[in-house]
Amino acid sequence: MTTHRPWLGISTRDWSINSDTPQAPPLPEYLGDMRPYLDVLVDRREGGTEVVGGVNKWIIDANWKFGAENFVQDGHHAFSSHVSALMAMQPDDAPVADFPGGFTVTPGGGHGLVASDEPVLELLARDPVLLDYHQNVVRPESARRLGAHRDAIHNVGAFTVFPNFSFLTGFQIIRVWVPRGPHHMEVRSWTLVDRDAPQEVKDAQLRLVRTTFSPSGLLEQDDGENWSMCQDTLRGYISRRLNSNVRMGLDMPIDSTAPGPGRVMPGWNEEPGRDFFRQYRHLMTDPTPHAWTT
Ligand SMILES: [Fe+2]
Repeated sequence: MTTHRPWLGISTRDWSINSDTPQAPPLPEYLGDMRPYLDVLVDRREGGTEVVGGVNKWIIDANWKFGAENFVQDGHHAFSSHVSALMAMQPDDAPVADFPGGFTVTPGGGHGLVASDEPVLELLARDPVLLDYHQNVVRPESARRLGAHRDAIHNVGAFTVFPNFSFLTGFQIIRVWVPRGPHHMEVRSWTLVDRDAPQEVKDAQLRLVRTTFSPSGLLEQDDGENWSMCQDTLRGYISRRLNSNVRMGLDMPIDSTAPGPGRVMPGWNEEPGRDFFRQYRHLMTDPTPHAWTT
């Protein structure tokens, strides 16, 4: 593979990466319909993005797929898992339990995303510098560059590029879930900022990530505890003999009017997760090099 690091400021439109491994598909082909959604993270402003604050690494006592699955589809967990943290972060009279609805996108290949359909960054970030920058600089420029139809993704979305690369828009974090055996994962997480942003905005973005989605972050600790408790449950006698129920939204209609590619479903559902695990099973049961392209 070349030494390009395209997430550090180059639009996916410019990507020309080809792997030295002949059986690997070219990256743009591998991303497929996930590309337009990845652009919302890395191509929202003309100057591109850069990493600030280095990398955070930590171990969670759970299989790596808990992280990937959470970011590929799990918008509904926020209602139950994060309300107490939001109460701690917000003024006493803030409507923290009044969550907006959302939607999922299943682009194929095991990739996927879930996003809210109304702005929620204000629920999570109280820094006026950051909120003003987001509303008055990022969104107008992003709408010009990427099209207004992708604006909703800015409302805070969680994304997974199959198998183990995930990111959050709004918070602007990218991360890799590194397997450390069946019962543990190592999380490696970075914060992205717009290269053209003022320094005070870059500082505010890093502060937001450190207080929410980092080893010391309030929201991160909610998730990590959930996943490790699920992992403990899976070790049990009953869990080993029953299938998991991932049928949420199985009969939900596709939004055929959605302007973005992929199967877009309004509301919370597990459709991207079903595609993630379908692709995982496909790769685990087909040992040929062609498995990645079929
Ligand atoms: Fe969460």
